[in-house]
This record gives sequence, C-alpha cells and structure tokens, in this order.
Amino acid sequence: MERTVLLAGCGKMGEAMLSGWIERGIPASGISIVEPNEQTAANLRATYAVSTYSSPDAVPEGVSPDFVVFAVKPQMMDLVAPAYARFKAPATAFLSIAAGKTVDYFEKALGDDAVIVRAMPNTPAAVRRGITVMFANPRVSPDQKAACDDLLQAVGSVEWTDSEGALDGVTALSGGGPAYVFLLVEVMAEAGKQAGLPDALADRLARETVSGAGELLRQSDDSPATLRINVTSPAGTTAEALAVLMAENGMQALMTKAVAAAKKRSEELAG
Ligand SMILES: NC(=O)c1ccc[n+]([C@@H]2O[C@H](COP(=O)([O-])OP(=O)(O)OC[C@H]3O[C@@H](n4cnc5c(N)ncnc54)[C@H](OP(=O)(O)O)[C@@H]3O)[C@@H](O)[C@H]2O)c1
Repeated sequence: MERTVLLAGCGKMGEAMLSGWIERGIPASGISIVEPNEQTAANLRATYAVSTYSSPDAVPEGVSPDFVVFAVKPQMMDLVAPAYARFKAPATAFLSIAAGKTVDYFEKALGDDAVIVRAMPNTPAAVRRGITVMFANPRVSPDQKAACDDLLQAVGSVEWTDSEGALDGVTALSGGGPAYVFLLVEVMAEAGKQAGLPDALADRLARETVSGAGELLRQSDDSPATLRINVTSPAGTTAEALAVLMAENGMQALMTKAVAAAKKRSEELAG
C-alpha cells in the first residue's frame, strides 16, 4: 500500500530524507511538502515530482497523510506544529526530528491523543549514512513504528529507545557528533601546518585520514581500540602522539565535557 507523507520543513535534513525516500522507492505521488517560498516549492516539484502547498491550510480537506514529518528548526515549532492538528487521527503519525522538542510538547500543540514519534538523526543522512534514534509515545502502533523505521532507514541506520530522556544524550553524541569529527579534521590540519606542512597538503591529509579511518572502521569487525593498537608500534611515533592525546586531561576529558555540555543544552531546550 502506498504510504503518504506530508513534510513540513525541507531544508538540510528535510531534503536529505526526501531524496532518501524517493531513492528507496516511496512514490513521489504520495509525498507532499509544505513550503511557503514559491521559488523553493517550484524547485522541489521540478526535482522530485512531489506536490507542494504554501501552508498546511492549503492542503485540501479530506487529505489524510499516514505521516506528518516536522523538520523545521525547533525555534519555529511554536508557529508550525499547532497548524497541523487538523491532520490528527489514529492512522496519522506525527514524526518530529526537532532537537529538544518533547512528546509532551507535541501533545500540548496537537492534543494528547496524537500519535507521536520523536527522532534524532544526523547529517550523514545526506549520504544515506546517518544514524537515527527514535522514541514513540504509547499511541504509536507496531505498524506505524515499522513504517517510521522504514522512513529513517532510507537515510541510514535506526535504533529505538524506550526512554525519551536518552534522546538528550543521543543529541549530544550522534546528533552533534559529525561536527566534532569535522572539527577534528580542522585541528589535525592546523597541527600539520604547525609541523611545517604546506597548507593545502595538510588540509588534504587531515581530510583523507579521517574519512579513510572512518571507512576502515565501518568495514572492519575490530573494535576502535583494536584498530588503534594495530597502528601503534611500541616506542614509535604514533605512541608518542597517543601518550599526549590519552593523558589525564587529553581527548577523553575534553570529549566528556563537550558531550555533557551539549546534553545540558538539549535538556534546557526541552524546557
Ligand atoms: N542539521 C542537523 O545536524 C540536525 C541533526 C538532527 C536533527 N536536526 C533537526 O532537524 C530540523 C531541521 O534542521 P535543518 O538543519 O534541516 O534546518 P534548515 O536547513 O534550516 O531547514 C528548515 C527548513 O524549514 C523551512 N521552514 C521554515 N518555516 C517553515 C514553515 N512554516 N513551514 C514549512 N517549512 C518551513 C525553512 O525554510 P527557510 O530557510 O526558507 O526559512 C528551511 O528550509 C531541526 O529541528 C533540527 O533540530 C538537525
């Protein structure tokens, strides 16, 4: 049976999901997008052959999507979510990817009988290598859960949690994680420059090293610790660097502090 999706917000994450759905074979005829900007809407129609509406009110009466997907910025949600309450039905699941916006928040905006799933994806979704963690409220049926799983598997892998609170840690680890890895590339490149390498070479070496090591990790059955030990000869050059990075105030202390700060911010956003 053809699934119907109404997507609110087609920016970086929204478009990554949209292109993943189309690639996975979800028919474009079943996908509608609420896009207020007419030029952007025209581009979406031309690129993906989807329907677009300028607002939720412009969606014809009687249209009852299987999924309403919220992919607008969290700070826009107060304006956006309540306008979709008209789609509320047991057969319609609201799926939000907005950081920090809780099930309780959506129950207030849409009514406490709404079927709600919260998801936290990450930006490698754009290359179908995202990882998403999801949490469902009790009104989500097993079929709706399976279908949500399918929607997010279109852009990578999916995990579920029974604890909504875990999503703050997820946001801090995998939600923001790609940015931490990009920063690692930047700081490695800068360290290479300070070690005397030409700028362009240092940039390229850092980028290829991180992406190549990521691919090696993905393809290997070994743990990251084993892979690290495999490239560390006793008393060699890598061992010297790791002694610095693994010192008491090294990378672990810094990353623990960074993830804790992000988790605290996610809790604050949840109110
Ligand atoms: N980026 C990440 O790493 C990441 C990771 C996990 C989760 N998320 C979540 O994903 C959500 C979207 O983030 P993003 O990075 O994709 O943001 P984004 O690129 O800014 O996309 C948001 C889109 O929503 C559109 N929009 C604004 N008001 C709207 C309305 N009333 N109706 C329909 N569309 C509207 C925006 O259009 P205009 O630009 O024209 O305003 C924009 O295209 C956020 O809630 C964020 O927390 C993001």
